[in-house]
Amino acid sequence: MAGERVFIVEDDTLLVRQVEHFLAHLGYRPGGHAPSGSEALARLGVTRPDIVLMDIALAGEMDGIEAARRIMAAFGLPVIYLTADDDPRTLSRALDTSPFSYIQKPVTAGQLHSALATALERHRLERRLKASEEKLAAILDALPSGILVRDAGGRIVWANAAAVSVFGPATGLAWEVFLGRFREPVPTVTDSGELELSLAEGQRLRHFILSETRTFSAEAGGGQTVAILREETERRALQAENLRAAHLASLGELAAGVAHEINNPISGIMGYAERLADKSDRLEGEAHIPGRILSEAERISGIVRKLLAFARPSDSVREPVDVGEVLADALSLTRAIFRREGIDVELALSDDLPRVMANPQELQQVAINLLTNARQALSARPEEAEGPRWLSVGASLVAEARPMVRVSFADNGQGVPAEVLPRIFEPFFTTKPKHEGTGLGLAISLKLVQAMGGRLWLESREGQGATAFLELPVAPATPVASELGLGT
Ligand SMILES: Nc1ncnc2c1ncn2[C@@H]1O[C@H](COP(=O)(O)OP(=O)(O)O)[C@@H](O)[C@H]1O
Ligand SMILES: [Mg+2]
Repeated sequence: MAGERVFIVEDDTLLVRQVEHFLAHLGYRPGGHAPSGSEALARLGVTRPDIVLMDIALAGEMDGIEAARRIMAAFGLPVIYLTADDDPRTLSRALDTSPFSYIQKPVTAGQLHSALATALERHRLERRLKASEEKLAAILDALPSGILVRDAGGRIVWANAAAVSVFGPATGLAWEVFLGRFREPVPTVTDSGELELSLAEGQRLRHFILSETRTFSAEAGGGQTVAILREETERRALQAENLRAAHLASLGELAAGVAHEINNPISGIMGYAERLADKSDRLEGEAHIPGRILSEAERISGIVRKLLAFARPSDSVREPVDVGEVLADALSLTRAIFRREGIDVELALSDDLPRVMANPQELQQVAINLLTNARQALSARPEEAEGPRWLSVGASLVAEARPMVRVSFADNGQGVPAEVLPRIFEPFFTTKPKHEGTGLGLAISLKLVQAMGGRLWLESREGQGATAFLELPVAPATPVASELGLGT
């Protein structure tokens, strides 16, 4: 005997004495006693026994069955009924509360012994089972994938924390109803028989792969199915970005090759046009033509120069740069033209922005490209659109895998149609009239930013403005010369 403490709820004092005597003999310790349910409930919190013996027919407004129910709920203690009553209805009511055992009066030492031993053992096992279930649930809750279990009837009976936080409460739902939370068109099946599902979250779509196993069967009602939903959004975005990058790189190579080829004939054309211009007095009414040839050829040569710059590997030197200064410079260069077009420009920098690793000239070129795009989108905005035209430039620190400064250029211009958005970083892709756009601004900017270890992207909806985002890595804290032991 481990000397467990037994609490007795019994209004017959003689019987209490007798049971206590048996218990002492069997090696149990007294854990107190009470004549009524309410008194027992009041005292159990203090005495903290290991098990309770409970008379069913108790005096007072609460009978033993009700008292046992409350004790099990409040203290999680095992309860054994003592009963003189062989009324089958009382007995079945008592059994509904799933007692740990019951003893028919008159109580014998032998009955007491076997009832206590089994009840205590069962309680130990239940506690161990509960602890192991809690451990399992904690492990499943810590997993990033959503896990759901549904019964043979197709009802969800369990969901882990990830599933609840992403898909909302699911327990109790019919499986079909749960699937209804995902977006039409109905799921696609992958080669391996898994389902692909997408979930709309505001503007964004999140993608999931659903795989199912039918591995375990519950006690009753047949097999349960475990569904695992693992998120694919990030991986897909990366894949798409890689594809786009490869596409851009091959376009860049092609463009550079063409640019080389064009360079020579263009110089030829310009040379001939200059010679013609010298003799323009002989061209009578068409004296302006050589000049026109020259200016068009210069335009071509300008594009070719940009293209070559685009294709040339960047070997610019990076240094710690104050983003705020670069932005202010770029804005002061363009301020007059914004004002002329009636566009409000706002610059909002968060305090204590760290410096970034960048090439200041290139960074300024990128900023001017983005400002120019915003200005053009604002000017092209349909007249009927309401409210003033504005451009808001902001910069703040974002904590990602490594700290970055994120600059945003938000405008309420005409925006980018969804079908155009994937193409805007392609060289020569433009939606602008011939003399306004070459389609190289974003392609060159992207290349420069990537060479600086940064990112550049644009978010937009047609008719609702656009925001270009530029992220650059924060410059490592530079040790002062004295710290390096140089100079004094
Ligand atoms: N802020 C913006 N608002 C709307 N559309 C934009 C914006 N920025 C870029 N675009 C779209 O991206 C295209 C490509 O831009 P870019 O590479 O700078 O070339 P370009 O300005 O010469 O057309 C533009 O033609 C335009 O359709
Ligand atoms: Mg542009």
